[in-house]
Amino acid sequence: MALGKSIKMYLTIFVATTCIYMVLYQYHISRQPITSPELLKPPPLYIITPTYRRPEQLAELTRLGYTLKHITNLLWLVIEDANQTSPLVQHTLNRIGVPYIYLIAPMPEKYKKNKKALPRGVSNRNRGLEWLRQNATEGVFYFADDDNTYDISIFEEMRYTKKVSMWPVGLVTKFGVSSPIIRNGTISGYYDGWIGGRKYPVDMAGFAVSVKFLHERPTAQMPFKPGYEEDGFLKSLSPLNVTEIELLASNCTEILTWHTQTKKNENAAPLNMTKYRDTNLVSIHKLLVRK
Ligand code: UGA
Ligand code: MN
Repeated sequence: MALGKSIKMYLTIFVATTCIYMVLYQYHISRQPITSPELLKPPPLYIITPTYRRPEQLAELTRLGYTLKHITNLLWLVIEDANQTSPLVQHTLNRIGVPYIYLIAPMPEKYKKNKKALPRGVSNRNRGLEWLRQNATEGVFYFADDDNTYDISIFEEMRYTKKVSMWPVGLVTKFGVSSPIIRNGTISGYYDGWIGGRKYPVDMAGFAVSVKFLHERPTAQMPFKPGYEEDGFLKSLSPLNVTEIELLASNCTEILTWHTQTKKNENAAPLNMTKYRDTNLVSIHKLLVRK
């Protein structure tokens, strides 16, 4: 009997100690810092880049692509104004190695008539918005034309945009810069060489928008209206109070993006096959984009 009792006692002590250890262990685990890689990831950035066939195309995409390669958790939506994808663009994107989606979105024929005032990149950007509505739930998106210049720090700044953020863009009009005008810490107007009756006289390279905010504005779109693309799109995000616009680049005191323009190049002349049929020039010529 005595033996049975002491076995029972030892068993009770054993079970109790095990329970105490388990509780202590659980407590210890709960105090550990969370190190899951998923939770450490910053919000995703979606970069919507319109592009189109011309001799400069691969050079522009290469330069932009290697800029974007510095940024983590970024998806590059490259959208070409074309009826079919281009194997040369595909090859270039693969070589750069930035995670990308390559889509096409041709400009509707009716807008092509007025050659002087084309709604450049509009069908591409609207296609990007459609993709986001179907595939993205969080993070921030930005319209990055293929020919502009970007300081990588602007991408980390825009990543935390709650609704809409803005900042100055260099090399816009004769003013040399386009920027919100900040007085006492808030937007009191816009500085741009061409106001044109716009509510938001800003450049495409000067604002970013949160994906959640886009979902709350299901009809937001960019209009096919040359010169008024940015204004029309930002107005379609209404209601948006001016005080809700977040000011980046140190309260709009720095220039981190530039609206650069590349010199237009002639189409390459065809290769003289009688002369060069058995040379490397045959391969090289297959890499040239012609309009
Ligand atoms: C800027 C804006 O980015 C355009 O949205 C706007 O149409 C234009 O100003 C304007 O207000 O006229 P800009 O530098 O003048 O653009 O024009 P591009 O750089 O030639 O085009 C803007 C973007 O659209 C580029 O990413 C370009 O690759 C693309 N694009 C251009 C097309 O997809 N299709 C075209 O026919 C031309
Ligand atoms: Mn441009």
